[in-house]
Parts: sequence; C-alpha cells; structure tokens
Amino acid sequence: MKFFVDTADVAEIADLAATGLLDGVTTNPSLVAKAGRDFKTIIREICALVPGPVSAEVAALDYEGMITEGRTLAKIAKNVTVKLPLTWEGLKACKTLTGEGTMVNVTLCFSANQALLAAKAGATFVSPFIGRLDDQGLEGMELISEIRTIYDNYETLSTQILAASIRTVNHVKQAAMIGADVSTVPPAILKALVKHPLTDKGIETFMADWKKTGQKI
Ligand code: G3P
Repeated sequence: MKFFVDTADVAEIADLAATGLLDGVTTNPSLVAKAGRDFKTIIREICALVPGPVSAEVAALDYEGMITEGRTLAKIAKNVTVKLPLTWEGLKACKTLTGEGTMVNVTLCFSANQALLAAKAGATFVSPFIGRLDDQGLEGMELISEIRTIYDNYETLSTQILAASIRTVNHVKQAAMIGADVSTVPPAILKALVKHPLTDKGIETFMADWKKTGQKI
C-alpha cells in the first residue's frame, strides 16, 4: 500500500519526505485555507519535494470551469493530480482531463456506485472518505471493502482506491488489510504508525544492558 500525506503544510511534508516513505500528497480547500498561503505556490513547492502524485483540488463546480482550473493546475508540475468532486460535471471533466494525460483524483466518494462511475470515467484515483462516514454512525471501512470487490470483478477498472478521511492508525491497518491501493493520512497519524510502547521499552532495556558490556561498535 502506498502512503500519501493529507496536508498542505509544506514544512510537515518536507519532514516526512525525508523518511523516503512518502509516495504522494493530497490537499483539499480546507487544508489550503488552514495553511494560509498561496495555493499554486504551495502545490509547486510540494511537487518539488515529493516526486509522487500531488492532489490539487479545483474550486469550480461546472464542467468548463473544472477544465480551465484543472489545466492550470496540471501545468504547475508533471506530478499534479487534479482533484475533482464526484458529480456528473466532475465525472465529465475527469474523462476529458484523463484523456489529455492528466492524473485525476475523484474525491468526496461516499458510495460504491459513485466509485464505479469514477472508474468508468477513467479516474486515476477515487477517494472514499472513511472518517466522515464513521461520523454519520456508518461503517466507513465497509465502503473500501465494497469498492475493492467491485474493482476486482472487472479487469478493465484500473482506478486506484485512495482511502481518505483517515482518522486513526486502525483505519490505516484496516484499509491495508482490505487492499486499498493508497491511504492518505494526516501527518500526526502517519508519525504515530511507528509507535509501540513495547518497542520503546525494548530499546530502553537493550541500551541499559549494552552499557553494562562497556563495548563500542
Ligand atoms: O483530503 C480529504 C480527506 O482526507 C479529508 O479528511 O478528516 O477532513 O474528513 P477529513
């Protein structure tokens, strides 16, 4: 499974990119607003830091507007992935932009049928939102499972499942067990994946015992 980080904070991305474990980045209008900086500058900087796909979301809701904005964003760097909402206009724009060789991430996916449409429109990625379904008292992870089953039923559907709205380390584990192609994870959750109290305790014990040997490597 690929790991993307879900943030528009360039400093955080630089930090995580240094691990060599970052396969891409996703942003959205809320994350850009939180960063409080110029959108296109942010995307340019992220694309220079991370060679993998970098999702940049359009603000237009109509087909023509999405195409204009999508083409503008795609020109920033080769690894820009244009993020489009899961609407008929978005799907139509997805078909056009993918036909031009631009990577597209169809976002705000909340049903398996929506994911089926995104794949038929040629999306590079579809983003089912796990946490926001959980917020409604539903089981977000079931959606990942349904989409995996559907995509695996048809060889012609090559869209990658990008598990989004991930809120916990358990979400990451479950998405990986189901076979999501990508998880996009907030920086804090990504950093928490490495943590285990027994790892810390083990290091402590080994270091104390090593000190007793008086040796150096
Ligand atoms: O980038 C889309 C998604 O990951 C948003 O997550 O936590 O705002 O539902 P969240």
